[in-house]
Amino acid sequence: MSIRSSLVAGPMGFGTAPLGNMYRSISDDEAEATVDAAWEAGTRFFDTAPFYGAGLSEIRLGKALSKRPRDEYTIATKTGRLVLDELDDPNTRSFGEKGNIFKDGRPNKIAYDYTADGTMRSIEDSLKRLGVDRIDYVFIHDLAKDFHGDAWIEKFQEAQKGAFPVLDKLRDEGVIKSWGQGTNKVEPIEIMLELDSPRPDGMLLAGRYSLLDHASALQRLLPLAVENSVDVIVGGPYSSGALVGGAHFEYGKIPERIAHNVTKITALCKKHKVPVKAAALQFSLAHPAVVAIVPGASKPERIAEDYEAYDFQIPRDFWSELRSSGLVASDAPLPGDA
Ligand SMILES: NC(=O)c1ccc[n+]([C@@H]2O[C@H](COP(=O)([O-])OP(=O)(O)OC[C@H]3O[C@@H](n4cnc5c(N)ncnc54)[C@H](OP(=O)(O)O)[C@@H]3O)[C@@H](O)[C@H]2O)c1
Repeated sequence: MSIRSSLVAGPMGFGTAPLGNMYRSISDDEAEATVDAAWEAGTRFFDTAPFYGAGLSEIRLGKALSKRPRDEYTIATKTGRLVLDELDDPNTRSFGEKGNIFKDGRPNKIAYDYTADGTMRSIEDSLKRLGVDRIDYVFIHDLAKDFHGDAWIEKFQEAQKGAFPVLDKLRDEGVIKSWGQGTNKVEPIEIMLELDSPRPDGMLLAGRYSLLDHASALQRLLPLAVENSVDVIVGGPYSSGALVGGAHFEYGKIPERIAHNVTKITALCKKHKVPVKAAALQFSLAHPAVVAIVPGASKPERIAEDYEAYDFQIPRDFWSELRSSGLVASDAPLPGDA
């Protein structure tokens, strides 16, 4: 079943990496209040992963959703990392280019595993942490250079023999609705979409289809997704917060060239009285391959801002000037394009 046809309430999802204490520690109550705010605003699609705080995001999300009827929402989680019982020193561990963004998460060790057995175990563990009887979408997490360096190709091959056929089978048997990859990089998705088998039906592409960064996804990944009827969910539509006043880009400090582009986009938004958040969300959703967005938030009040941005009527002149000014790629579809 496609993601497009199984989403319960439209394209606005909620990305729960911040509930795993990403960048900063939040309380259980704040985490629950943020999920409640998303639910009350109408969100019925939630994205999580074992990686987000070594299970903390799944546990908190599961608890917050336990008061809601299971048929009324869809949930995505990831495979590729097992959360072990063994403990680690959270202050010294590092995750590739991402450093240690979850140092305030649970202290459990995390082990990469893209094999068939590891995939099954990961799903079973996620079901337990979430406290649900099924998961709708499963994305193989970070099968890419940013976490594995040059060894990512070997990891991809491990998944080709292990995770890919297992998830294909689970989808064909109706155990899950859809599967694919969840990654910050375009290459592993492009390679997968060019293979004859397996047959993924959805991808979570994070950070690579935002106002600040979209040119490479437009070249191959998104046209291939349209051609193969593979649905794309956009993660990180605010470029980790950099676009909208946050302190991070790509999980780290905001580089100068990015800050410069943010200033230009912000000035254009101001000129047309358009909230930057509105431009960000509506830009990501304008590509025909994109079926959902999962902005992240660690505070309940962000949710209302997100919905205002989603509903905001942006004048045509703003989009025309965004394109003519060269702030977005000339081939990026924009809302209102014929
Ligand atoms: N490999 C993958 O599969 C992958 C990778 C990355 C992301 N994802 C998914 O995509 C989701 C979203 O990604 P993301 O959370 O990294 O990035 P994002 O949605 O681009 O941005 C979220 C960040 O923006 C900040 N923000 C929002 N409104 C703000 C405002 N008015 N002022 C200042 N800051 C503001 C939030 O801060 P607060 O914390 O203060 O609310 C939060 O840190 C993740 O949660 C995850 O579900 C998946």
